[in-house]
Amino acid sequence: MIKIALANQKGGCAKSTTSVNLAACLAAKNKKVLLIDADPQAHATIHLGVNPYQMEHTLYDLLLHNKKAKDVIVQTATKNLHVIPSHIDLSAAEIELVTHIGRESVLRDQLKGLGKKYDYLLIDCPPSLGLLTINALNAVDRIIIPIQAEFFALEGSGKLLQTVDVIKERLNPKLEVYKVLITRYDSRKNICKDVADKIGQHFAKKVFKTKIRENVKLAEAPSYGKPITTYAPNSNGKKDYASLAKEVIKDG
Ligand SMILES: Nc1ncnc2c1ncn2[C@@H]1O[C@H](COP(=O)(O)OP(=O)(O)OP(=O)(O)O)[C@@H](O)[C@H]1O
Ligand SMILES: [Mg+2]
Repeated sequence: MIKIALANQKGGCAKSTTSVNLAACLAAKNKKVLLIDADPQAHATIHLGVNPYQMEHTLYDLLLHNKKAKDVIVQTATKNLHVIPSHIDLSAAEIELVTHIGRESVLRDQLKGLGKKYDYLLIDCPPSLGLLTINALNAVDRIIIPIQAEFFALEGSGKLLQTVDVIKERLNPKLEVYKVLITRYDSRKNICKDVADKIGQHFAKKVFKTKIRENVKLAEAPSYGKPITTYAPNSNGKKDYASLAKEVIKDG
C-alpha cells in the first residue's frame, strides 16, 4: 500500500479537493483506495457524499475509543473508494490525545494490517501542524504538498519542511516529501506563472508535471457530494486530476 498525506498548514490550498479527486481518479483506474479525513471540518467526507453526522463511528472513535479500522471504514458511492469519515468532535481529539501514551502514533498503530486491502491510502490533513497532522505524517511514507499559485504561496513552507524533518528524525524515518502540486493555476495570470517558476526553483525536481487549473466544476462538486469523476467527467478539473493520478501511478 502506498501511503500519502496531503499536507500544508496553509488554509485553502486545495488539500481536500486534491484528496477527494485524486482518490476518485485512482479508484477509476481500478486502484483500491482508502481516504482518511483527518480534518475536523469534514470537507473531504462531505465532498464524497457521506454525512459525518449520520455516522455511528468516525476517525474520532478510531483515535480515542480504540475502535478498529474495519468498524469505521465506510464505502462511498464511488467504486473502489472507501473513507474513514471525520466529525467535528475530532477538533477535541487534538487536546484529548495530549495525555495519551504514544499520542503521535495512534493512527499508525490503528491502521496496521490494512495494507493488503488497499493499493493507496490518502490522508487529508487539517490546516495546522498539530497532533492530527503529526499522526497523519507518522502514518504515511510520502507527503504531497498542494500549493496554490498565488502571491503568498511559499509562505509557511519552511515551517512545514522543518516539521517534516523533525518527524522523520524522531518518529518516522521513511517519511519523504514526494512532490509539490500546483493548484488553482490560471495561465492567463502572470502571477501564477511567476509563482510556478518560484516553486520549481524552490523544490527542484519534486514538482508534479500536472498543474491543477482553476476550474469552476471543482469548486461546485463538493456541494453535490460528488467527486469530479461523476460530477463533471468532461471538465478540465477531471482531466487534470486524472493526469495527476497517472503521474502518481507511474511514480510507483
Ligand atoms: N482548481 C480549483 N479551481 C477552483 N476552485 C478550487 C480549485 N481547487 C480548490 N478550489 C476551491 O478552493 C477552496 C479551498 O479548497 P480546499 O477546501 O480543497 O482547500 P484545503 O486546503 O482543503 O482547505 P483547508 O485548509 O480549509 O482544509 C474550496 O472552495 C475549493 O472548492
Ligand atoms: Mg481541507
